[in-house]
Amino acid sequence: MLALEGVTYRYAGAARPSLHEVDLSLAEGEVVGVVGASESGKSTLCLVASGLAPRATGGTLGGRLLLDGEDAAGRPMHELAGSVGICFQNPTTQLSGVTLTVYEEVAFGPMNLGVPRDEVIARTEAALDAVGILQLADREPSRISGGQMQLVAIAGLLAMGPRHLVLDEPTAQLDPFGTRLVSETVAALAAEGASILIAEQKTDLLARICTRVMVLEAGRVLFEGTPDDVFADPRLVGLGVPEPSAVRLGRALRVAGLDPSVAAGAAAR
Ligand SMILES: Nc1ncnc2c1ncn2[C@@H]1O[C@H](COP(=O)(O)OP(=O)(O)O)[C@@H](O)[C@H]1O
Ligand SMILES: [Mg+2]
Repeated sequence: MLALEGVTYRYAGAARPSLHEVDLSLAEGEVVGVVGASESGKSTLCLVASGLAPRATGGTLGGRLLLDGEDAAGRPMHELAGSVGICFQNPTTQLSGVTLTVYEEVAFGPMNLGVPRDEVIARTEAALDAVGILQLADREPSRISGGQMQLVAIAGLLAMGPRHLVLDEPTAQLDPFGTRLVSETVAALAAEGASILIAEQKTDLLARICTRVMVLEAGRVLFEGTPDDVFADPRLVGLGVPEPSAVRLGRALRVAGLDPSVAAGAAAR
């Protein structure tokens, strides 16, 4: 269980908080999506949920981050890293820069956590396999595509074995195939009991894998609910959040005077 209780966070030197009174709780196996306009606080929420803010970013935090019922503020950094992993939008910022191969890069995290050698090998291979990049194992991390780097970063996260994952626009640089790999990986991890927070612009992906979706506006939770309810809400359009294609299709069918449920049934036959 990962939970935020009444979280208000202000960056160092900022005049106003970037998050206001945010409550959030992710049970085991839950995937919660975060959407909102640019600058609405999605990345900040990811930083707080992963324990990096304020620990690594400075600033001031009101409220609490709870990991499995314990206040994260009291836990040492290496313990946090083994419990909650974060993946950023830009993969180049999260590769270590000190490894020569993708394999070493993925093994780097668990090695630093002091995981025994045999287990590092097993975890590294499982993580490369999970995101479909076993064939990149011998490549140089700096000489692969942005999409491939993102998959390497996610594999590196998986190899640390965290129970909680925070993904900040993890597919921003991925093509549809890479996006599909990430979404399948997230769904498989959730099925194994991980709790996952994912900020994304790709609402089709969120509609497929989320148990709940939260909408942020100016650092506050505007509303939240099931993907079906949230994505059908007209307020989203004003925030610039794209509708999933199923919602768009349903609207187009209604505009054309067709009943979407009948049309969907006809399509299935
Ligand atoms: N390092 C920072 N210092 C001060 N303010 C920041 C910093 N990073 C983001 N902000 C501000 O916090 C708010 C939320 O930003 P962010 O979490 O990046 O939104 P999003 O990810 O939804 O685009 C914005 O007003 C942004 O300007
Ligand atoms: Mg962001």
